[in-house]
Amino acid sequence: MRKTDTYLLVAALAAMVAMGAQSQLTFSPPKLSDAPEDMRDVVQRGYNIVHETHKYAPDRVGNKLDCTNCHFDAGMIKDTLSLVGVAAVFPKINPVVKKPVDLATMTNLCFMRYLNAKPLPTDGSDMTAILAYYQWISKGVPVYAKVPWLGLAPIKSEHKPEAQAGSKVFAQCMPCPGQNGQGLLPSGAPPLWGEGAFPAGPGMGQENVLTAFVHRFMPKGNADLTTTQALDVAAFVLSHPRPQMEHVPGKM
Ligand code: HEC
Repeated sequence: MRKTDTYLLVAALAAMVAMGAQSQLTFSPPKLSDAPEDMRDVVQRGYNIVHETHKYAPDRVGNKLDCTNCHFDAGMIKDTLSLVGVAAVFPKINPVVKKPVDLATMTNLCFMRYLNAKPLPTDGSDMTAILAYYQWISKGVPVYAKVPWLGLAPIKSEHKPEAQAGSKVFAQCMPCPGQNGQGLLPSGAPPLWGEGAFPAGPGMGQENVLTAFVHRFMPKGNADLTTTQALDVAAFVLSHPRPQMEHVPGKM
């Protein structure tokens, strides 16, 4: 074998090993209590804010939602919009603005769009704590790896959503979302429409995103809706009025 051929072979093998290693990425976030001693309280505070935003950052909320209502268990589990590994994959191109966005900006988008709150100062202690939390729970995830549990792939379906049919699906979701979408906090869902719900706008306020969320994660802990049911129930939820966004993200 010529020397260049050998190099090529070695390179090909190395690439295959690298690909294999990536597909074997295992979900194993470290314990918060194992964070470096001098950062442990900061990491814990970040977790607390994401997990119980109303309790730990009462002046940062704008409706009834906490981050954990969509990122269950503060994103520490796989079966949710997980946050484990996010620090390894940001900054990344945001599909809406088609520009790279960093994690502080992304986090503020969630504060504005979903908690109907003001964006946090990016150099303040609350944002720093949240970023430290992401950083710690991303330990072991290679930078810019393809992390299989992150993201929310859109649902592909020809079905035209029917809100009327969705009301029947919704009736099976009781008691968590409440008969009138008012929710059942603290143990059940947050308000799904009306006062205290996430505001109208891009993201969860759009049928495709809400459908994907419902299909993957609802009912919580036992997601079993068909794509048709998910499309219909998302249309039903979004057919109700919801608050306007108080702090609209500016140009990024
Ligand atoms: C109503 C549901 C909802 C709430 C509440 C919510 N988020 Fe999100 N979050 C989403 C959705 C949906 C996405 C996917 C991207 C998007 O919306 O553009 C996301 C994406 C993210 C991402 C990027 C994840 C990735 O894999 O790219 C971070 C980080 C994040 N949210 C943090 C937060 C924090 C912190 C809070 C609390 C202030 C919060 N979110 C509240 C729905 C929510």
